[in-house]
Amino acid sequence: MNTPVDTALIQSLDREHFLHPFTDFKDMAAHGARVITRAENIYVWDSDGHKLLDAMSGLWCVNVGYGREELATAAYRQMMTLPYYNSFFQTTNVPAVQLAARLSALAPEVGGRSFKHVFYSSSGSESNDSNVRMVRRYWDLLGQPERKIIIGRINGYHGSTMAGASLGGMSSMHAQGDLPIPNITHIGQPYFYEMGQPGETPAEFGLRAAGWLEDKILALGADKVAAFIAEPVQGAAA
Ligand SMILES: Cc1ncc(COP(=O)(O)O)c(C=O)c1O
Repeated sequence: MNTPVDTALIQSLDREHFLHPFTDFKDMAAHGARVITRAENIYVWDSDGHKLLDAMSGLWCVNVGYGREELATAAYRQMMTLPYYNSFFQTTNVPAVQLAARLSALAPEVGGRSFKHVFYSSSGSESNDSNVRMVRRYWDLLGQPERKIIIGRINGYHGSTMAGASLGGMSSMHAQGDLPIPNITHIGQPYFYEMGQPGETPAEFGLRAAGWLEDKILALGADKVAAFIAEPVQGAAA
């Protein structure tokens, strides 16, 4: 059951104190935010009692649905045993090691290489910031420090931190904070409905879009390109 909530009060405190990302503040000030109070399986409820199908799965991240008792129990048990510790300075902890080993076992082989190491972060944006540093460091250590450029896609979305928003190709985000940061560049998005040519099939368009990456690498010089980043299915931006 929903605990009764004073929607107007929460909306007013929200307006006064809570900064939201990706929000039209004028619109929010005029209409107030929708107050989500409860969730179960694939549904969420708002403070006015509306039951909504959460087709977005939170922000594309509630992969196993809401209200999973076994997850709550495991989290409770771990919070009571060891709620936090860092992994700097040759320190580790049991669940982090076990999860890394499990993820390594589940990760697929790509190009004959398997993924055997896990680096944890708290969000997709932070992960991509770490990726930029790791990729550049990797090439430095291989004696190719000139390989710095990372290629992303126009309207790709890779997060909202400085590097994440730079890897992404959304001009509205680039306008905030002088982005992209140096040595990040973008190619066109594989968006058939907008960019497909008359008579072109989706498969033909896919090959043409893949060609934009090859063209960019050749234009920059392959020895300058550190990495390409892309969503398998471009989702967040439009
Ligand atoms: C493909 C992709 N990468 C990165 C992110 C950023 O993740 P986070 O919001 O956890 O920082 C998102 C978020 O929607 C995403 O869709």
